[in-house]
Amino acid sequence: MLGVLGKGRRMICSLLTQAPFPLAYYSSPSSIYKAKPSGYLPRISSGFLGPISCSAILAFCSKSGEVGGMASSLQNQGSITYLTQREAAEIDEVLMGPLGFGVDQLMELAGLSVATSIAEVYKPSEYNRVLAICGPGNNGGDGLVAARHLYHFGYRPFVCYPKRTSKPLYSGLVTQLESLSIPFLSVDELPVDWSNDFDILVDAMFGFSFRGAPRPPFDNLIEKLVHLNNYKQMQQKSPVIVSVDIPSGWHVEEGDVDSEGIKPDMLVSLTAPKLCAKKFSGPHHFLGGRFVPPSIAEKYKLHLPPYPGTSMCVRIGKPPQIDISALRENYISPDFLEEQVEADPIDQFRKWFNDAVAAGLKEPNAMSLSTTGKDGKPDGSTREAASPTGILKKIWELFKMCQNFLKKFAFPRTKYEKHAYNLSSSRMVLLKGVDKDGFVWYTNYESRKARELSENSHASLLFYWDGLNRQVRVEGSVQKVSDEESEQYFHSRPRGSQIGAIVSKQSTIVPGRHVLHQQYKELEEKYSDGSLIPKPKHWGGYRLQPERFEFWQGQQSRLHDRLQYSPQEINGKRSWRIDRLAP
Ligand SMILES: Cc1cc2nc3c(=O)[nH]c(=O)nc-3n(C[C@H](O)[C@H](O)[C@H](O)COP(=O)(O)O)c2cc1C
Repeated sequence: MLGVLGKGRRMICSLLTQAPFPLAYYSSPSSIYKAKPSGYLPRISSGFLGPISCSAILAFCSKSGEVGGMASSLQNQGSITYLTQREAAEIDEVLMGPLGFGVDQLMELAGLSVATSIAEVYKPSEYNRVLAICGPGNNGGDGLVAARHLYHFGYRPFVCYPKRTSKPLYSGLVTQLESLSIPFLSVDELPVDWSNDFDILVDAMFGFSFRGAPRPPFDNLIEKLVHLNNYKQMQQKSPVIVSVDIPSGWHVEEGDVDSEGIKPDMLVSLTAPKLCAKKFSGPHHFLGGRFVPPSIAEKYKLHLPPYPGTSMCVRIGKPPQIDISALRENYISPDFLEEQVEADPIDQFRKWFNDAVAAGLKEPNAMSLSTTGKDGKPDGSTREAASPTGILKKIWELFKMCQNFLKKFAFPRTKYEKHAYNLSSSRMVLLKGVDKDGFVWYTNYESRKARELSENSHASLLFYWDGLNRQVRVEGSVQKVSDEESEQYFHSRPRGSQIGAIVSKQSTIVPGRHVLHQQYKELEEKYSDGSLIPKPKHWGGYRLQPERFEFWQGQQSRLHDRLQYSPQEINGKRSWRIDRLAP
């Protein structure tokens, strides 16, 4: 093992002698404010349009005289850009120089990226105990920040930070962690066998500007991480390893040269992956950090995937190999008891809907609508239509009679659900109103759902609010809303959506997207004067009048809450009966 590290050191040293400026970041953490470059790179974001001027970068670039070569080498790296150590340092210098970033800002964002990447894959309910092993430089600082975020995400972090630096940035991070009562473990206090005591090990020892062979105690700590591979090979339980930017001990460009180094399960590359990341063969490769303006990405021809939504990390590399059967969530939710719920299910619905809005869930009004056609077969076609004629038809009719008899008399309702043999179709629609009369959505009156509803007005709605572990089922009968109501809503929509509704003969086959675009363009032109766009006859709303509700909330060990509301009449007075159903 030490031999491997020694070899790595030679290679890194030879690289560093070629660098156009000192890469003293790791070896001299105390010089963090002076040393250029630092261990940070710009974080590339395709979604962020910052006000940083291109001329500032150009000014720097023309001074360095290296950009042309670098840009072309970046361009040739395939669909994702992998950086050499030198390229990484160059970009870093721009960031820490003309772009005016501070090391503390970058460290905060890097640590947050690491923590969010971990949270994407390893849920705190299953992987709770995290040991962050932090080196003395910026990579270690990223680990300290990540530990703090992980605490707030519901993990139980421990920190091993054997070579502390007294710089205010680092001592501040230590104070923050101590104030959260996060234990700091010395190397001697670490358990001999890590396989039982931790679920996640964060390797935040050395970053991309590391040089030299790891010195004690980091050489031994790396060796312990390497040793965990043996457990994995023997299919024994062992913690997962998450490396920050560079798996410690790896060559920044060559990777795990003798295949005897750390084999992380997750690598969180910061800003852009370094060349060594090409050798990463673990299941989870993420890119972290998100604040660099597109001008840098363009200038340096960085090809990196866009970050989704507001995420601080994005998966790169191969898609996750997931064992679907092993996917399971252990829900933890507040109490949901009969005595707490509203007597009226619409009021209860509003309460949960407001919770979903307050939780910032995306499209909390999205709901699945399930419909069935005549005889339960979707799309309005009947079983008879597909059946043969003549004698076979007679047999078919006899079969149908028996089936109806069984439905009516042979099985009590609770055992034989009304639609148990029926097929149905589902799709998402958006709830546009809810009151005592029911749930409203808008659509095309000639669509498949509309055809099915015209044959069978019974339908069901389903809301699922991930993040709150909640689901609401609503069943009832559906009617069209009044023309005035549809008219009013139609004209409240953006003009583009109004034109879209005219163009789309929903659920019919179209020869290609261009046809829709062509029609859209023509109508856009036609109504470019701002005149009223008439609501097409085939477009309008539906209202489902609820007959039954079920409110479901996930709980631990699959002992979920299910409260069903069904109508009842007591002394001529209608009310809702509430029953708890077995999960
Ligand atoms: C989140 C989401 C919301 C949707 N909202 C609507 C809607 O409000 N009305 C609608 O007609 N289609 C909506 N759609 C599209 C439908 O799911 C469906 O593709 C379309 O209505 C055609 O369905 P049909 O062929 O079964 O009639 C939505 C899709 C998604 C994913």
